[in-house]
Amino acid sequence: MGSSEDNPRKPHKQTHIKSKLKILLLVILTNILTIYIFTSPSFKFNLSDYTRNLPLWDLHTLLQQQNTTQKEFSASTTQIAELKQKLATATSLLETLLSELAHFREDPSTNTGDWGGELSSELKLLVGPHKLPLGFSPNMGTDEIYPPMGAGCRKFLDELNQYTSYDVGGECPVDNVFSQRLMLKGCEPLPRRRCHPKSPVGYVEPTPLPTSLWATPPDTSIIWEPYNCKSYQCLIDRPKTKGYRDCKDCFDLQGREKTRWLRDNGLDYGIDDILSTKPPGTVRIGLDIGGGTGTFAARMRERNVTIITSTMDFDGPFNSFIASRGLIPIHISVAHRLPFFENTLDIVHSMHVLSNWIPDTILEFTLYDIYRVLRPGGLFWLDRFFCRGSQLNTTYVPMFNRVGFNKLRWNAGLKFDRGVQMNEWYLSALLEKPMS
Ligand SMILES: *[C@@H]1O[C@H](CO)[C@@H](O)[C@H](O)[C@H]1NC(C)=O
Ligand SMILES: *[C@@H]1O[C@H](CO)[C@@H](O)[C@H](O)[C@H]1NC(C)=O
Ligand SMILES: *[C@@H]1O[C@H](CO)[C@@H](O)[C@H](O)[C@H]1NC(C)=O
Repeated sequence: MGSSEDNPRKPHKQTHIKSKLKILLLVILTNILTIYIFTSPSFKFNLSDYTRNLPLWDLHTLLQQQNTTQKEFSASTTQIAELKQKLATATSLLETLLSELAHFREDPSTNTGDWGGELSSELKLLVGPHKLPLGFSPNMGTDEIYPPMGAGCRKFLDELNQYTSYDVGGECPVDNVFSQRLMLKGCEPLPRRRCHPKSPVGYVEPTPLPTSLWATPPDTSIIWEPYNCKSYQCLIDRPKTKGYRDCKDCFDLQGREKTRWLRDNGLDYGIDDILSTKPPGTVRIGLDIGGGTGTFAARMRERNVTIITSTMDFDGPFNSFIASRGLIPIHISVAHRLPFFENTLDIVHSMHVLSNWIPDTILEFTLYDIYRVLRPGGLFWLDRFFCRGSQLNTTYVPMFNRVGFNKLRWNAGLKFDRGVQMNEWYLSALLEKPMS
């Protein structure tokens, strides 16, 4: 699986389909030609031609012949009618075929020949299309549905085939590391659709709210297979130099998590201070991008604000942990287009995650997307964005300006790591989408 590059293109599949279609067309054309010859004006039954060679002196024979002729004539008429019908059928079949052929050419996603290799039968279904019942298309603007699948999946056919080779109706393979790597390669959304995830053994009912907001769930509530740690205590105790460096102690709900966003001090803004920049109760729904174990959402929940937390499961069961707190995790990468409609959210927050490790173009996509989903007057709280000092004024400030946010608060400062000054800057900012 590893870092496999694009597969060498194998065009034989496409050629195969093309030659099949060619043969089919040839057969139909031959049939049409035959029908045409037999029904064309030159094949009219001509009685006078027929009688010209008869011996006129034999009236009886002539009558007999005429009788036979009449029978043959009516038989021929029936035959011609049948042939005409066949021609009509063949023509409509040909029209259908031609339109499907055009469809194949127009839409690369249905052209399995472009995949550069064989697709399994399940993968063919996962790619689609799937026809809608007649009469539905006027409402939806399409007469077929394609199951969504990240365009990046197409570049890694071996991995895609591996990922979709599950037993339909059976248990899905536990392969989070592999599947998240696929997501980062642009195979997002992932295409696995018809298997059951493995269930943890000994799952117990969740802790009720509001206690669940600050409760660590029992170890039996999740599958530990994909992680180095096999218990929540291990996640809390793991060495601070290893693992996901910006969320190294965020599973410890009694530690630093307990005090985050409670005080307003320099680069660290307080939740209540941020909420008070807007009329009471008007910040109600939002998103925390890369929200770790969900503590931001928990604090907001205590203030009756509903926050969805996006997170990947690198080095830890972040999604399950957030859900166990009674909060909503959403499993999307930072490159994913936000799954919200435009002008809808009151607030978007992100701490540490949006920073200079993200390629500039992807970061700009994300910033525009945050702007898109925020409602007019919505808040974007950029919390401890880090970068090198030289990047701040040359790359990032112009980028924020390009996207078009208003600046309500802005704090930049040198980064210190355990008292040691690093050659990195932190930026915290409260930005606002203009009202118009
Ligand atoms: C012609 O056909 C009719 C009925 O089909 C029959 O009555 C008649 O005898 C036939 N005439 C001859 C000459 O065979
Ligand atoms: C949250 O809502 C509940 C129920 O409406 C209310 O009792 C409580 O005071 C609210 N809490 C805050 C911090 O506004
Ligand atoms: C960026 O520019 C501002 C003013 O334009 C300046 O005060 C600040 O020191 C600069 N920051 C860095 C990190 O160079």
